[in-house]
Amino acid sequence: MLDVLRCPDCGAALEPAGPDAVTCRAGHRFDLIAGRAPDLVRAVVQRDTPGQRAMRFRPLVSIYESIWRPLFTRLAGGTDPAAETDQLIEWLEPTVGATVLDLACGPGNTTRRLAAGLDGASVVGLDLSVPMLEQAVQATPDSSSIGFARVDAHTLPIGDATVDVVHCAAALYLFGDPAAVIDEVARVVRPGGRFIGMTLVAPLQPLGSIGRTAEQAFARLSGLRYFGARELEEMCSAAGLEGFSARSKGGALLFVAEKPGS
Ligand SMILES: C[S@@+](CC[C@H](N)C(=O)[O-])C[C@H]1O[C@@H](n2cnc3c(N)ncnc32)[C@H](O)[C@@H]1O
Ligand SMILES: [Zn+2]
Repeated sequence: MLDVLRCPDCGAALEPAGPDAVTCRAGHRFDLIAGRAPDLVRAVVQRDTPGQRAMRFRPLVSIYESIWRPLFTRLAGGTDPAAETDQLIEWLEPTVGATVLDLACGPGNTTRRLAAGLDGASVVGLDLSVPMLEQAVQATPDSSSIGFARVDAHTLPIGDATVDVVHCAAALYLFGDPAAVIDEVARVVRPGGRFIGMTLVAPLQPLGSIGRTAEQAFARLSGLRYFGARELEEMCSAAGLEGFSARSKGGALLFVAEKPGS
């Protein structure tokens, strides 16, 4: 599971260094979160916002998968989160044994769903929040097909063109610079590989003008940045990802884009 991860200091491969750490050949050492997820963050690029702090707030983290995510998705007019991931998996026309990143994996809800739905895939859940990663490790049986690591999505410790799929759900609007993150996605995906995910474009839209006002106030207070399908398509295209296609259900937008070549 460490195969796809690289030392953020020198880019070398990582290997286990006892029960609590991993190391690279140059001796750079990284602690494991909850005994399984290497902490590969040297410097956080991500701006801290109330939305970011919420993702580190343990009471919320503990109910995220069971209550928060299903409720938020329903409020946004989407389907249930599991059906969402299944729809994205269908769009992948998956090949057996793909290397998949679940970027901003939270407590691993989408990571486990991807691993279950993609035959023989290796799925690595990546997140910035230590409490989310602790929860992910605790909720995920130790397996050679699922791993986790702490990263900042703006600087991925992953080699160029080394993964088949990057999945990112319910997180693009949390990133300080989503265009920079999508550039990183395009860098690590191999030619012919795909970027898939879900983003909320207007979560309270179904509530009409009151919903829109509440949404703008919420975005201001939380530091979230909502954007529409066209802006997302432009960011993908600027990053060199083509064939953007999206389907919306309420305020939830499921999308796929591909890196040209094969
Ligand atoms: C709402 S959760 C999404 C979890 C899961 N993907 C899902 O669909 O339910 C958003 C996650 O994005 C993570 N996140 C936010 N900014 C990040 C960044 N710059 N790098 C990595 N993860 C980030 C948060 O810590 C949080 O766990
Ligand atoms: Zn190193």
